[in-house]
Amino acid sequence: MMERLQKLIAAAGLGSRRQAEEWIAAGRVSVNGRIAALGDKADPQGDRICVNGRELPRAEEKVYLLLHKPAGYVTTLSDPQGRPIVTDLIKNCPARVFPVGRLDASTEGLLLLTNDGALAQRLAHPRHKVDKTYLVKVRGLLSDAARRRLENGVRLDDGPTLPTVVERVRTTASNTWFELVLREGRNRQVRRMCEAVGYPVVRLKRLRVGFLELGDLEVGKFRPLTRHEILRLGEL
Ligand code: URA
Repeated sequence: MMERLQKLIAAAGLGSRRQAEEWIAAGRVSVNGRIAALGDKADPQGDRICVNGRELPRAEEKVYLLLHKPAGYVTTLSDPQGRPIVTDLIKNCPARVFPVGRLDASTEGLLLLTNDGALAQRLAHPRHKVDKTYLVKVRGLLSDAARRRLENGVRLDDGPTLPTVVERVRTTASNTWFELVLREGRNRQVRRMCEAVGYPVVRLKRLRVGFLELGDLEVGKFRPLTRHEILRLGEL
């Protein structure tokens, strides 16, 4: 994207926008070898911008991927136990992406990966309270009392949980499946909540993060976010 030169120079930490404007006016800034004028714009990924004879580092292109994480993969960037890591599944991606938040190794489903550190931090920050929807399979037939406890808040070691929504409950002879919508993301939260009300989780899959949906993306596959999705993410 084309941006004003003073903005790009300031973003690279070389000085304030004001200072950058002075350098431009003094003919000390060039774009692809041509002396720039005040008001000029440049593309931080494609253009060679020099200030006082020194080239600005080119901005890395931001990449946003939505992966259908399979069970068995860890969301760290390396694993002492030698288990596969989610980035092993990201083929032909020019940028080094990292997962936004964590899913347990045995959890499947929607995982965002990006090289945009600022966005990752914002999404993970508790202040943002982005809804996350999980498909949960527990052993046994979930009682109404347990469902109410899940919905109203469960006391865990690290404090009570915020209210949740339990929906689309269906039962088989020996299990209950339901969707659980959380507004926080503590370590192993769904598993600990279900255990605390007496129903161990046997399968866990994340279906949605905010407006992003796993949809029918195959297990182990990823897709880039659309432009529209990236813009909406920025608004969360
Ligand atoms: N809650 C869990 O218990 N595990 C996950 O991976 C995600 C949410």
